[in-house]
Amino acid sequence: MRVLFVTAEAYPLAKTGGLADVSRALPIALARRGIDVCLLLPGYPRAYTRIVKPRIVAKLDPILGIDDATLVAGMFPDVDLPVWLIDSPTLFRRNGGLYQDQAGRDWPDNALRFAFLSHVAAKLAMQQTRIAWKPDVVHANDWHAGLLPLLLSLEKGRRPSTVFTTHNMAFQGNFGPEVLPVIGVPAHYHTTDGTEFYGQVSFLKAGLRYADRVTTVSPTYAREILTPDFGCGMDGVLRHRGAEFSGILNGIDDTLWDPASDVHLPQTYRASDISGKRTCKATLQHELGLPVRPDAPLIGFVSRLTHQKMADTILSAIPWIAEQGAQLVVVGEGEPAIEAAMSEIQAKYSDHVAVTIGYDEPLAHRLQAGSDILLAPARFEPCGLTQLYALRYGTLPVVRRTGGLADTVVDADTTAIAERTATGFVFDDTSMHGLISALGRALTLYEEPLTWRRLQLHAMAQDFSWDASAAKYIDLYSAVSGIPCTPTDRTTRDKDEIPETARQIAR
Ligand code: ADP
Ligand code: GLC
Repeated sequence: MRVLFVTAEAYPLAKTGGLADVSRALPIALARRGIDVCLLLPGYPRAYTRIVKPRIVAKLDPILGIDDATLVAGMFPDVDLPVWLIDSPTLFRRNGGLYQDQAGRDWPDNALRFAFLSHVAAKLAMQQTRIAWKPDVVHANDWHAGLLPLLLSLEKGRRPSTVFTTHNMAFQGNFGPEVLPVIGVPAHYHTTDGTEFYGQVSFLKAGLRYADRVTTVSPTYAREILTPDFGCGMDGVLRHRGAEFSGILNGIDDTLWDPASDVHLPQTYRASDISGKRTCKATLQHELGLPVRPDAPLIGFVSRLTHQKMADTILSAIPWIAEQGAQLVVVGEGEPAIEAAMSEIQAKYSDHVAVTIGYDEPLAHRLQAGSDILLAPARFEPCGLTQLYALRYGTLPVVRRTGGLADTVVDADTTAIAERTATGFVFDDTSMHGLISALGRALTLYEEPLTWRRLQLHAMAQDFSWDASAAKYIDLYSAVSGIPCTPTDRTTRDKDEIPETARQIAR
């Protein structure tokens, strides 16, 4: 089975959040199970410099008025995974972020940039480029690839099946109707039943509406977004999909995120001997200018600093955290007002709070290892990965009972502690009171080293690798394409046609 995985981010080529982690780890897990998978990404300059042996494999015919694009094949730098980058000086070779310029403003041509991603993917999928590789399934991710299922649904000939995954319903790729002439979608699709969303053109809605199957990244979020409270206006579109919509829980890349081998840590550790975690804590305190106190509970928060992630609530809890004698390490970037307030409050509570504004991957690893507790509260959370990393690092997460957080953390109530199933602290109320009631319970248990150690061991024993979930995606691909995916069936199929794999092409 051949799968084209279309995404705007994939670690380490391009990353702003969890989409990048998933767009790396899921394809690796699929490839390990015999799927011939290839990624398609915009050719951002850093992605281009990071892939191994970049090689132009096709000059693309002009699409949407863009006539300078080529497809560059290469391999991920650290793992045997093929990728095609769309190199277009006009659209992607520019300094700044993936979606925004250096001043934090959305690129004014984002509709064109990501419509182009979908058009190129559709050409690849229909073998209308010079590349002799035709996918059976196209897996489009988030609004950036939302037009792709629609474009493929317009194809008259045999086309690959389409799966669309929404990683966050709050990011919709909505643009004014003036983009209609530039995105290459017939204008009559701009209706309530098509791409129209409150007068705008919605890339997300196109994905939800036209893909053969739609998924999201946890079972609980899948239920939540069928309701007006969480559906961000699209719950009706999803309800309409009925059984063609489902939730599959994300996993983690357990080779990158492993305290026993993590290259970013001053000292590695494992469940059988976590003494290295103490070194990680002391080093982190020292590095960030906090008093090096082994006994002070160290609370970490690595996140986008946004309303979704309750960064505002954490801000208001800081005086309380300092009063408890705990320390808080914040690493993040996001809403300018929250960034400014975080920096300001650090100056006031400098013995207790260390704030790093910015994006720092190695520091994120050191924070996970050096903290005792990880804060991962959220007003809504499709899946959330930081709480999964925390569990693996023996750092007990404090989360709100929503989306993937609810699916992955077991609250340390009396029964769960007694039954040895507890892995963290869960709360419901979005107020500061809700947050500090759970954090307070964590700080109290922290004073009981034996119980704490037991919880840590249980957390570290959880298996959130991609094994189970990659198998679910493969079942879905098989169901939607009608192509059985067992080694025997693959052999039969390949008898008359031995296709080149994407990996061979990319090498
Ligand atoms: P989301 O994708 O909604 O931001 P996730 O929990 O799914 O949330 O994924 C966040 C990812 O981004 C994790 O890999 C986390 O470590 C990383 N991350 C978030 N903020 C930062 C930051 N400031 N520096 C480094 N890594 C960060
Ligand atoms: C989004 C979601 C996050 C999820 C990630 C990967 O960024 O906000 O909850 O973990 O995608 O699916």
